[in-house]
Amino acid sequence: MRPSQFPCSRSSSKLPTDLLGFALLTVLCLASSTDSCIDQEKSVLLQFLAGLSGDGGLSASWRNGTNCCTWEGITCNADMRIADILLASKALEGQISPSLGSLTGLLQLNLSHNSLSGELPLEGLVSSSSIVVLDVSFNHFSGALQELFIQSTIWPLQVLNISSNLFTGKFPTTTCKVMNNLVALNASNNSFIGQIPSSLCINSPSFGVLDLSSNQFGGSIPSDIGNCSMLRVLKGGRNNFKGPLPDELFNASSLEHLSFPNNDLNGVLDDANIIKLSKLSILDLQQNIFSGNIPKSIGQLKRLKELHLGENYLYGELPSTLGNCTNLKILDLKINYLSGDLGKINFSSLSNLMIIDLLVNNFNGTIPESIYDCTNLIALRLSWNKFHGEFSHRMDRLRSLSCLSVGWNDFTNITKALYILKSFSNLKTLLLGGNFNHETLLADETMDGFENLQYLEISGSSLHGKISLWLSKLTKLKVLQLSNNQLSGSVPAWINSLNFLFYLDISNNNLTGEFPTILTQIPMLKSDKRTNLDVRSRQRLVS
Ligand SMILES: *[C@@H]1O[C@H](CO)[C@@H](O)[C@H](O)[C@H]1NC(C)=O
Ligand SMILES: *[C@@H]1O[C@H](CO)[C@@H](O)[C@H](O)[C@H]1NC(C)=O
Ligand SMILES: *[C@@H]1O[C@H](CO)[C@@H](O)[C@H](O)[C@H]1NC(C)=O
Ligand SMILES: *[C@@H]1O[C@H](CO)[C@@H](O)[C@H](O)[C@H]1NC(C)=O
Ligand SMILES: *[C@@H]1O[C@H](CO)[C@@H](O)[C@H](O)[C@H]1NC(C)=O
Ligand SMILES: *[C@@H]1O[C@H](CO)[C@@H](O)[C@H](O)[C@H]1NC(C)=O
Ligand SMILES: *[C@@H]1O[C@H](CO)[C@@H](O)[C@H](O)[C@H]1NC(C)=O
Ligand SMILES: *[C@@H]1O[C@H](CO)[C@@H](O)[C@H](O)[C@H]1NC(C)=O
Repeated sequence: MRPSQFPCSRSSSKLPTDLLGFALLTVLCLASSTDSCIDQEKSVLLQFLAGLSGDGGLSASWRNGTNCCTWEGITCNADMRIADILLASKALEGQISPSLGSLTGLLQLNLSHNSLSGELPLEGLVSSSSIVVLDVSFNHFSGALQELFIQSTIWPLQVLNISSNLFTGKFPTTTCKVMNNLVALNASNNSFIGQIPSSLCINSPSFGVLDLSSNQFGGSIPSDIGNCSMLRVLKGGRNNFKGPLPDELFNASSLEHLSFPNNDLNGVLDDANIIKLSKLSILDLQQNIFSGNIPKSIGQLKRLKELHLGENYLYGELPSTLGNCTNLKILDLKINYLSGDLGKINFSSLSNLMIIDLLVNNFNGTIPESIYDCTNLIALRLSWNKFHGEFSHRMDRLRSLSCLSVGWNDFTNITKALYILKSFSNLKTLLLGGNFNHETLLADETMDGFENLQYLEISGSSLHGKISLWLSKLTKLKVLQLSNNQLSGSVPAWINSLNFLFYLDISNNNLTGEFPTILTQIPMLKSDKRTNLDVRSRQRLVS
């Protein structure tokens, strides 16, 4: 179970709100006007329509002879000039005509989520017009972006979203230089190469949002990004960035969201640097090659909600100051070399935590008592560490848990563990394997609970006992993994009453009797839905 599958609210981005106000104003003004739109602007729209190879039914309302201010997706201003063209998700196909740039009152052009293709006539669209917001995300535009050289004009463009297209090539640096009012640039999910276009902030003092994630950008993160004093959001995940985070980056002290997951960044997270980003709410550096300790100063980031440092080479103990990050919702430190006892951290003050993922580290000691105050936890993954001890009755407080994964530690007393967990009615995934060595699987036939459990894994524990009858009450079970134990007796006939079971592994036990033909009667194994039984569903169980 990957915590990322949980519905956790991610970043939210803010738009210049004065824009919306302006748009609203134009709508209000329009209501009091009876004139028609300007003929020349109407013919620009008709030319745009004629250039499309698929108009998704737009021509039904875009008819010559009618007032184009009333056409679908069109808003005019008080002068009856076209102000907004909002045609997101209209099934438009084909190329777009640069002549839209000649609409001198145009503020917003939103063509997001269509099937438009060819080159994006960026110069034609923005250099000659008044466009403030241009969103062509989720289309099939391709090729490189043109370099633009018209330095003399003041470009009003504030928001440019070209994400989720098929753009290639380097990001044009001169284009960045002329866009001197840019606030947000979203170029994510394309195939751009080359360096981060960091000159943006030098030329555009209010630059606030840069999303370059999911491209093929490379090289090191340029130090002049530190000049971006208004930068709130910097996302560069899933690229080929190398080297350390430059010290200067931390001068960008307005940063709220800093994320570079899945790159080859290295170095240490410096105490003196981290402390400078006091507004940080999301820090995502997972899947890189960072090493060293988690800095103490992380405790000063009072607004931190998500900390993703998983899949790096971090070592040492967690700083106790982590307990000061009282807004933390997600703590993802999986697959590192972190160690020590968690008892020093006061989880009681981290009561907003929803996900804790410490999979594959070297933590030891018992589960800290204070963690039981994190009553909002929906996923707790402690597998593949060196935790020991019995489960505490105080764990009862974690009844919001949907996923509990504690496998491959040294926990003891499976009976106690099961009695505590049975009343966790939200629990869907329970992975306990590799603990409780040589204990006996509870045989209490009156055992109940676990009413929503779908995945149960207790393998590799050398457990004695039988495949107990209480398991037959777990009617929602999809996956049952009891391999590599010393369970004895026969395979019970009730197995085939588990209507949703599609994966059963009871290999490497001491089960006796004939191969139970009953197994061929398991409903999901008989049904067409058995295609679920693939390798992936098995891998999900590993941790
Ligand atoms: C729209 O109507 C005007 C006036 O009747 C005409 O001149 C123009 O050619 C028409 N445009 C198109 C694209 O049909
Ligand atoms: C464009 O429209 C889509 C769909 O309505 C919306 O989600 C998106 O935020 C708009 N883009 C901008 C920049 O406002
Ligand atoms: C495109 O990106 C801009 C700026 O980040 C954002 O405001 C807008 O909502 C995005 N559009 C869509 C369709 O997500
Ligand atoms: C950029 O656009 C994508 C859609 O392609 C959207 O999911 C993402 O949130 C946007 N980034 C920002 C920072 O607004
Ligand atoms: C990336 O862009 C492609 C289209 O080029 C789109 O189908 C896909 O959904 C986008 N991915 C994300 C995560 O937005
Ligand atoms: C930016 O960061 C560097 C390195 O950390 C530092 O030497 C410099 O003084 C900082 N500049 C400003 C303007 O804060
Ligand atoms: C832990 O935090 C809680 C809540 O903030 C507080 O009441 C308690 O005194 C703290 N415990 C210790 C040992 O500091
Ligand atoms: C396991 O816990 C139960 C309940 O607390 C206790 O009665 C039992 O003695 C424990 N078993 C072992 C082997 O310690």
